[in-house]
Amino acid sequence: MMNMSRTGLWLVGAHGGVATTVAVGLAALQDKNNFGCSHLACGLVSQLPQFRSLDLVGWDQVVVGGHDIRQTTSLKEAQGLSSGTVPAIAPMLVEASRGFLKEFESRIRPGILFNAGSTIESLSSKDRVAAVDTPRQAIACVQKDLSEFITSSGCDRVVVVHIASTEPPPVIIEPLPESWSQFQGLLDHHDGPLPSSTLYAIAALEMGLPFVNFTPSLGSCPAAVQDLAVRKKTCHMGCDGKTGETFLKSVLAPAFAKRNLEIMSWVGHNIFGNMDGQVLNDPLNKQTKVASKDRLLRQMLGYDPQTHISIEYIKSLGDWKTAWDHIHFRAFLGTPMTLQFTWQGCDSILAAPLVLDLFRFTELASRRGETGCLTQFSSFFKSPLGTDENDFAVQFNQLTQWASSL
Ligand SMILES: NC(=O)c1ccc[n+]([C@@H]2O[C@H](COP(=O)([O-])OP(=O)(O)OC[C@H]3O[C@@H](n4cnc5c(N)ncnc54)[C@H](O)[C@@H]3O)[C@@H](O)[C@H]2O)c1
Repeated sequence: MMNMSRTGLWLVGAHGGVATTVAVGLAALQDKNNFGCSHLACGLVSQLPQFRSLDLVGWDQVVVGGHDIRQTTSLKEAQGLSSGTVPAIAPMLVEASRGFLKEFESRIRPGILFNAGSTIESLSSKDRVAAVDTPRQAIACVQKDLSEFITSSGCDRVVVVHIASTEPPPVIIEPLPESWSQFQGLLDHHDGPLPSSTLYAIAALEMGLPFVNFTPSLGSCPAAVQDLAVRKKTCHMGCDGKTGETFLKSVLAPAFAKRNLEIMSWVGHNIFGNMDGQVLNDPLNKQTKVASKDRLLRQMLGYDPQTHISIEYIKSLGDWKTAWDHIHFRAFLGTPMTLQFTWQGCDSILAAPLVLDLFRFTELASRRGETGCLTQFSSFFKSPLGTDENDFAVQFNQLTQWASSL
């Protein structure tokens, strides 16, 4: 069994809705009485019976820190969530988490900003962004923060999870070099094409720390960065947490395929109003998200139905996302039929437990010496890196098989 060492969870995007919900949730999980909150384990995959015998990090061993670019505090963000759009985070829960959030805040450092686009830049404040010229300096700065965190918190292991705002697709004129030695040349020029998410990934992987990309941003996707993970004998995974509409898509589409029902078109309209929605309201940032939500049907069906995905920012909805999906399919004798569903979920409440699960599973895999791109966690991602498998049932089976092999 694990000893009572401390393990670090480093959140990039530490002041965001998901990160704040992770922090409040963790504070409740660490409390002896769970702050009196019933059903706390709902939504936590790692709490399922299949994973009970795994030597996962205990909640009370976890120390949290992170980076962000906005001038605010975790407590303010949690109060904002609870008074506004996430009633599940009751004011009493925020009050009970006050000490935890204060400690978390003391471990949040200014972030880095490269190729983030004007919408993300407009969220930042000057003194919350590290003053650096080149990507290489930015990486050094992130590494310094991570080293200080490791020393000051006494953590013997750290997992870095990227949950910052979705970046626009990178403008890549020439293909990125595939070997790490050539790729490094891109790090010395201020105007290189790499976005912050990739620089955070490089910073973590160079230090031998696992990197999880919960966003659709580029992160550790470039081949050379994946190569770096292998060289440094550490692991990484992504991209984009599969929490709501896309989760249902990956459950339903294989069922249609298995009954030989031909999907002719699949339309998904998404409306929500949190800060993530505000960022995705920028057509450039939206492109990254739509591409991530739209890519899986072909793999699951073996053909390309007509698809349409819209994401609209409706401020009054806050963190509550409504997705309305219209699936038009053909049955026996060519008879057209329709399935429609409406998903109404609270985005941060759906995402936060999956971040905690990924942290625990990744830490265990890394402690066991697993390196490179880990695909057994693909059920958590909309665009799983390193595999074409998108069928949720198959992906979940891979996760349980991994667990039983340990
Ligand atoms: N259900 C979900 O909520 C869900 C599901 C899948 C993926 N995601 C992705 O997770 C990410 C976070 O979602 P959220 O709802 O918490 O968003 P949010 O807008 O509430 O938070 C994002 C945070 O990232 C910070 N940030 C932006 N650029 C940064 C940088 N370069 N360095 C450090 N911090 C930076 C922002 O200041 C903000 O505090 C988004 O990319 C979102 O698309 C969320």
